[in-house]
Amino acid sequence: MKNNDYILRLETEKDYHNTETMAREAFWDLSVPGCSEHLFMHDLRKYEAFIPNLDFVAEKDGKVIACVMYSRSYLVDENGEKKTVLTMGPICVHPEFQRMGISRRLLEHTFSLALEMGYDTVINFGNPDNYVARGYKSCKKYNVCLQGDVFPAALLVKVLKEGALDGRKWYYHQNDADSRCSDEKAVEEYDKLFEPKEKHHTPSQEEFYIHSHSVIVP
Ligand SMILES: CC(C)(COP(=O)(O)OP(=O)(O)OC[C@H]1O[C@@H](n2cnc3c(N)ncnc32)[C@H](O)[C@@H]1OP(=O)(O)O)[C@@H](O)C(=O)NCCC(=O)NCCS
Repeated sequence: MKNNDYILRLETEKDYHNTETMAREAFWDLSVPGCSEHLFMHDLRKYEAFIPNLDFVAEKDGKVIACVMYSRSYLVDENGEKKTVLTMGPICVHPEFQRMGISRRLLEHTFSLALEMGYDTVINFGNPDNYVARGYKSCKKYNVCLQGDVFPAALLVKVLKEGALDGRKWYYHQNDADSRCSDEKAVEEYDKLFEPKEKHHTPSQEEFYIHSHSVIVP
């Protein structure tokens, strides 16, 4: 799709339900039967680490067709030094418009804004297929891990400014804005605000299981 077929702009309060409806379509049955990302977005907007200036949507013919959101998390080194980083997500594109370069444009646009705002590192869990072309690398390449020296295969790092991470070991502490997503009752309750939709088991859920249970070994 050509760049002038749609615009990128900040999300406004009027978009919230439409953006979440679009996200629900994009994420439905992808990693689990149904999805919880619409609740995540709802909670994230009210979260103290949320960054409204990086909350972008793509709009085509007056409709929200994609979105990306960011929040602050932090890294801690072995001496206890703390560094603020961005956690990217959720990002999604309505199924009708996927694989047309829209998330590429959303990411490139918000990465350059983030850099102007003084952030130099973006970290998120995700399917590497979606991110390596945007310059994301395995967390292992930057010595970024979780407590217990675990390097998840799905933990991906995008350095916005060369040298932002200097090779020392960093522990990633992701904010807990998505904490209610594991609460089935909370997800079910929030989902009632949307059109009823049937849940299914799909092969992509197995792919998600494999990615989210894989670690990089030394
Ligand atoms: C994942 C998602 C956000 C990607 O957005 P998109 O607009 O469809 O992606 P783009 O067209 O910008 O492509 C991004 C990259 O994906 C890869 N890609 C594109 N088409 C692809 C295809 N047919 N097969 C495999 N990879 C492909 C490429 O690496 C591409 O980079 P490039 O533009 O440099 O070639 C979108 O498909 C989506 O919303 N999926 C459902 C929700 C989701 O999975 N969100 C991310 C959670 S980790």
